[in-house]
Amino acid sequence: MANGRGCESARWQIAYSQSRSLATSCHRRKFMVQDYLEKILIDEPQLQARIKELGQQISVDYVGKDLLLLCILKGGVLFLTDLMRQITIPHEIDFLAVSSYDKGTRASSGVVRILKDLDNPINNRHVLIVEDIIDSGFTLDYITRLLTARQPASIRICTLLDKHERRAVDIPVDYVGFVIPNEYVFGYGLDLDQKFRNLPFIGVAKSGE
Ligand code: IMP
Ligand code: MG
Repeated sequence: MANGRGCESARWQIAYSQSRSLATSCHRRKFMVQDYLEKILIDEPQLQARIKELGQQISVDYVGKDLLLLCILKGGVLFLTDLMRQITIPHEIDFLAVSSYDKGTRASSGVVRILKDLDNPINNRHVLIVEDIIDSGFTLDYITRLLTARQPASIRICTLLDKHERRAVDIPVDYVGFVIPNEYVFGYGLDLDQKFRNLPFIGVAKSGE
């Protein structure tokens, strides 16, 4: 998906690797983004343009409603902070932290653990789950069933990325940023073994990394 506008991201990568070279010159050379990055899949301008569209649509759909954006930590956090700045209606935010991947693996275990629950009740509120990526769907299937039992006025899903061909559970998704191929991606909130969440673009990981 990267195009001519990708030069910003390319410039950023060079700056990133140069600063990292200095920082790690006394240490073992590790965690250099170019060692792990196969290619940029979605660059920063593409991300921001699509998030603006999503924010505008959500602002229309939820006008007059008590909207709660519920961010799934940690991966959804960059998406949330950019999305909420594109939403022009009043809303609140809350956070849920779950774990569905074991460290070092790249497949959802299907066993979801709640690491941090919501701060406040959600009954009678319009909940919009903000997620980084849907892969098998196990995580969001579990979360929506958990939250539905708390009797919100409505519950919908907004995901930045949808790895649609990997879906194992049929789960309705209301807002999708980008449908992406079945490749392991990282950056913009998504991690590669907990690193690189700070990248401003979505990159594809080299196979075997
Ligand atoms: P699912 O339960 O298989 O849908 O996976 C959901 C979670 O796995 C997402 O919220 C991400 O945290 C993580 N995940 C799935 N695919 C990727 C990926 O390609 N890169 C990074 N994290 C991923
Ligand atoms: Mg996630």
